[in-house]
Amino acid sequence: MDPATRARVEAWLHYGEELGVAPYFRDRATTMPAQDEEAKPLSPVEMAGSKPKSAPARPAPPATPAAALPIVAIAPGPSLFDVVERVEGDSLPRIREDIGDCTRCRLHQGRTKIVYGVGNPKAELVFVGEGPGHDEDVQGEPFVGRAGKLLTQMIEAMSLRRGDVYICNVVKCRPPENRLPEKDEIATCSPFLLRQLAAIQPKVICCLGACAAQTMLGTNQGISRFRGEWFDFRGSKLIATYHPAYLLRNPNAKGEVWKDLQKVMGVLGLQPKKK
Ligand code: URA
Repeated sequence: MDPATRARVEAWLHYGEELGVAPYFRDRATTMPAQDEEAKPLSPVEMAGSKPKSAPARPAPPATPAAALPIVAIAPGPSLFDVVERVEGDSLPRIREDIGDCTRCRLHQGRTKIVYGVGNPKAELVFVGEGPGHDEDVQGEPFVGRAGKLLTQMIEAMSLRRGDVYICNVVKCRPPENRLPEKDEIATCSPFLLRQLAAIQPKVICCLGACAAQTMLGTNQGISRFRGEWFDFRGSKLIATYHPAYLLRNPNAKGEVWKDLQKVMGVLGLQPKKK
């Protein structure tokens, strides 16, 4: 069977059990904040010149790149979000109000602050991460720790400022010990993410890491199989790339991420920042 057909068949077979939420238990290691690597500045030149020396710690990409696969191979049926109704006249403040002092799932027990999202409510570009870590939990803002500093560098390398984009996560409360968000936690929290995206209506959604990408696309395929490819998501273009925390541990993957970000820049008409 050719790889494209195999991917399609696998996606169909897994769909019933998946609903886009099964696989996260496998992938947290790729997004866990690394203790051993310092964030290196991501200048465009450095990113562009950074050739991966080794493959990411992921399943090998298929012989046929995911680019060749239609979206149906990744998301063969309704994703988690297709069952969520659009809310008429929705807005970011209203969604935050609806979240309230949330106790809908067990994650509320260990949180310090709900990490809702930050940035331009009319952003053309939204970054979606996995869930708050320690620093985010304390400050109530996404991506403010080491991975966040790297994300900010990535944004600036695209000749944007952090305030130009919107940044949020799949789950809004920190999972204990930075574990992966569980299936039911994602199912409970992700409708708010969908509403945030629907309220912003960005041109581009960039999923950071497997959890965000798999949740949004309703797949359990490893991110390395489809990162850098474009998908349609409710009127936005969606692309997935590696999580900044993964880059902290695997700096050789910066070149691949930069290629993905350059695709985003192409869609948004951005030129790389001059040094
Ligand atoms: N990792 C994430 O996925 N989100 C954050 O907000 C911080 C780290």
